[in-house]
Amino acid sequence: MDNEALRHEAQAYLDWHAAMGVDLGVGTVAQNWFELSEQAARPAPATVPSTQPSNPTPPPKRNAPPRPATPAATPDEAVFAAREQAAAAPTLEALHESLATFDGCGLKATAKNLCFYRGAPQARLMIIGEAPGRDEDLSGTPFVGPAGQLLDKMLAAIDMDDTAAHITNIVYWRPPGNRNPTPQEALVCRPFLDRQIELVAPDVIMILGRPAVNNLLNNTDSIMKLRGRWKSFTVGAHEIPAMPTLHPAYLLRTPLAKKMAWLDLQAVRDKLKGEL
Ligand code: URA
Repeated sequence: MDNEALRHEAQAYLDWHAAMGVDLGVGTVAQNWFELSEQAARPAPATVPSTQPSNPTPPPKRNAPPRPATPAATPDEAVFAAREQAAAAPTLEALHESLATFDGCGLKATAKNLCFYRGAPQARLMIIGEAPGRDEDLSGTPFVGPAGQLLDKMLAAIDMDDTAAHITNIVYWRPPGNRNPTPQEALVCRPFLDRQIELVAPDVIMILGRPAVNNLLNNTDSIMKLRGRWKSFTVGAHEIPAMPTLHPAYLLRTPLAKKMAWLDLQAVRDKLKGEL
C-alpha cells in the first residue's frame, strides 16, 4: 500500500472512532475495562503450592494501559461504601474530599477530573444535569461547555446567575464518549448526590433532560411528558419541589423547543418568589 492509501486508511479509522464517540485515548493498547472490573470483583483463587522455582522469570513487560481506579468488589458493595462515605461527610468540602477518594464508580477510571459542582455552595436553586462532558472533564467543573453557556443565558433570563445557583450532575465523572451514564453508575453516585442536596438545602431543584429526570424521579416517561410539571423530590425528611425541564444541549440542537424551556424557567422563578 502506498503512503497516500495508508494515510486514507488511517484517517478513515480515526473518523470511524470519532463518529462512534471515541474522542479520547487512555492508552496505546486496547483494553477491555469491563473484564478488568469483573476480575477485581472475583474472589482471589486459593493459593496452590507451586512447583516453580521461587524466583521465576517475570513475564515480559507489555505496553500496559493505566490501571483503572480499583472498584469496590461488587456493585452492591460499591453502593454500600458510597452510602457510608456520603453519610459521614458533615460539609460540602468533606463530601468533595470523600468523592475524590471514592473508587466505586467505574467512570473514574477513564475521566480526567472529578466534577463536583459549579456556583454557590448554598443556594435556593439547585440545578442537576446528566453527566460531565469533554469541557467539564478537562476543567473539573460542571456545565462549562456550550450547554453550560446556554444554561447561564437561561439563568440570566430569570435575572439569576451561578452565584445564586448550585449546579451539578447525577454522576461526577465523564462517561467515555459522552454516552449516557448507566443505571449502576448513577446508583453508585446517588448517595453522594443525596447528601449534596441535604447540605445545599435548596428551596427548588431544576432537573435537566430525560436521563437525569428519569433517574432522580424514578420513572421512565419521556421528557416531553414530564417537563413543566412540578414534582416532589424527597431527601431525608425534606420534600423539595422539583421542575423537570429540557436539557440545554437539546435546546442547542432544537432551538424551537426554547419556548417550552422558557415556560419552565418562569415557573421556577415564580416558585422561588413564592408566587406559585
Ligand atoms: N451536560 C450535562 O448534563 N452536564 C454537564 O456538566 C455538561 C453538559
